[in-house]
Amino acid sequence: MSENVQTLLKETRKFQPPLAESVGFEKWHVESLDEYKKLHERSIQHPDTFWAEEAQRLSWFKHWDHVLDWNPPDAKWFVGGKLNACYNCVDRHVQSGHGDECALVWEGEPVNPRTNHPAPGSAYAHEPEIRRVTYRELEEQTSRIGNALKELGVQKGDVVTVYMPMVPELAIALLACARIGAAHSVIFGGFAPHAISERAIDANSKVIITADGGFRRGEIVPLQKNVEEAVKQLAEKDHHINHVLVLKRTGHEHPKFEGGTVPASLKAADPKAKTKFHWWHEIAERVSSACPCESMDSEDMLFLLYTSGSTGKPKGIVHTTGGYLTFVNTSARLTFNLVPDTSQLFWCSADIGWITGHSYVLYGLLSNRIPSLLYEGAPNFPDNGRFWDIISRHKVTQFYTAPTAIRTFMKWGTEWPDKYNMSSLSVLGSVGEPINPEAWIWYHETIGKKRCPIVDTYWQTETGGHVVTPLPGATPTKPGSCTLPMVGIDAAIVNEAGEELGANKGGLFVIRKPWPGMLRGVYGNRERFISNYWGRIKDPKTGTPFYFSADGARRDEDGYFWVQGRVDDVIKVSGHLLGTMEVESALVSHAAVAEAAVVGVPHEIKGSGIVAFVTLKSAWAKANPGRQPDDKLRAELTSHVAKEVGALAKPDQIRFAESLPKTRSGKIMRRLLRDVAAGVEKITQDTTTLEDFSVVAKLRADEE
Ligand code: PRX
Repeated sequence: MSENVQTLLKETRKFQPPLAESVGFEKWHVESLDEYKKLHERSIQHPDTFWAEEAQRLSWFKHWDHVLDWNPPDAKWFVGGKLNACYNCVDRHVQSGHGDECALVWEGEPVNPRTNHPAPGSAYAHEPEIRRVTYRELEEQTSRIGNALKELGVQKGDVVTVYMPMVPELAIALLACARIGAAHSVIFGGFAPHAISERAIDANSKVIITADGGFRRGEIVPLQKNVEEAVKQLAEKDHHINHVLVLKRTGHEHPKFEGGTVPASLKAADPKAKTKFHWWHEIAERVSSACPCESMDSEDMLFLLYTSGSTGKPKGIVHTTGGYLTFVNTSARLTFNLVPDTSQLFWCSADIGWITGHSYVLYGLLSNRIPSLLYEGAPNFPDNGRFWDIISRHKVTQFYTAPTAIRTFMKWGTEWPDKYNMSSLSVLGSVGEPINPEAWIWYHETIGKKRCPIVDTYWQTETGGHVVTPLPGATPTKPGSCTLPMVGIDAAIVNEAGEELGANKGGLFVIRKPWPGMLRGVYGNRERFISNYWGRIKDPKTGTPFYFSADGARRDEDGYFWVQGRVDDVIKVSGHLLGTMEVESALVSHAAVAEAAVVGVPHEIKGSGIVAFVTLKSAWAKANPGRQPDDKLRAELTSHVAKEVGALAKPDQIRFAESLPKTRSGKIMRRLLRDVAAGVEKITQDTTTLEDFSVVAKLRADEE
């Protein structure tokens, strides 16, 4: 990280926002820096009137009584108001005469083999499977799945777990939950069974929606198999899943079951197993297509989304209906200059399993009546040009991706994007981690052809939507800076005492006033909600808690924010948040491991790589004579982590140690380990010898 910060400090390039016409737009919603500043000022000085105007863009079943109740750290937005998120994303567009417009454009991963004679407009021999889903179809499908969920016993207020590939039915599943007033808890399809069971138990969820599989890089991801495994793990902990709804996506052999019965594989493990599996298509056909949208209180939970924290257990971040929907509606519209006239097609490449997908694949887009593109698979299938092929064939207007992806594209070379006509592009977005200036410039020149403004959006699962970002027609950009606060966001860099710091002083990123998209809690854990976000930094004058992001950042002389990265024990690996403790817990659950310490190190593509220091149990060594701390054990531990957490948590390097360096009070000296890990030139060069930290640890003991 320190290298990155150095580069940022030297960065002085500045890019002016282009004219709207030059990127094919009629106008920008916010046309100048001055206009932005006035708007921001008004939103902070008069939040009630500002947010009331924004919320009016949604359809409410009952108008709110007042805009905000703020009893720090508890906020209630649009108090007394009633609405439904699915109604706002779907039904109201049908009712206003837009039912036949496209809401979702989906492309599956598989393509037929390439030939020397590609089909017109495509680099591939045949177009991949493409589906366009209209608002009217969404209305029918969300009604059917809403009724299906009701038939499976789901009631208003229940939490439904969703573990699916990127297919239209994933969006339908979420909207169907919203339709009937159930909260969804989506688990990214790359996570392992343990992640499903841990989250389902925390959320007390009794119904899971999944698919037989999904396609990724030419292979089938065994989603249903993972759910079966999770169901077994849950039953052992006395948490019984009542029903699993399974979409037939791949149609492969693995999971045979008769709709409405307990699969044989579950019965084989436990004859008393009672979790019934149902086929999505069978139940959807059978139930009625009429399902009214529940009238939800503005503060009713819309979804739970688990995110990593500095303890091993992920936190269920609670978002509610009225405030969240208003915030993503406004931020999506302004950041990407959305205009609902069917000429735009927005593509956010994030999986819906992350907050980026919730806010800017689904809710922020459809509530604005902007078609959203979903792509099922990997960027390098069947070749490294897939993303650019998608953009050029579908004529994507706004494209939103992560720096880790951009760095990968850079590595693959400009010859891939150069093959495609991407002149439809207007605005390019970045999200998930600081973007290094080199990647920013490459994105700007190679993908945006120096025409398209880049919006580097800084935010978090907890913030619901963008909190610092350029507005494409208003904000001059500097590569590597996420620039200025979103309207309604009172962001600041402060010290531990809550005092605002001057220009270019590194400090902590906080938000001083409530905003509609803010998290309302950590599910079932009030203490964690307070201690993680509100307990650390206060307004030095009034004692009111500030929202603490756990990010370090600075503001430059123009007031621009430069995020430097996390100040807690979580790391960003390929843009995905991962608690070092989650990886450590996975490692120590292996029979050979006594202790493990995991640290992040700078990684050229992934942002952070994972290095694990591991000590071995003497009992394991005794019980397994002939086994060594060697590459074979490393491979075993690596796949164990993948099995326990998911592939994204695989350590890049495992180093065996005699003991871990600790302070006198017994705390692992992570800073020392980070230095040791970062000192290694090539992350792939493993050492098979056991490291002895005792000397360095003694030298450093007083520093920690
Ligand atoms: O460290 C910041 C980084 O991602 C963290 C939030 O991760 P998550 O909750 O998974 O949400 C990711 C998608 C919003 C933040 O605490 N981060 C996110 N966007 C940026 C960023 N760091 C720098 N610049 C960004 N644009």
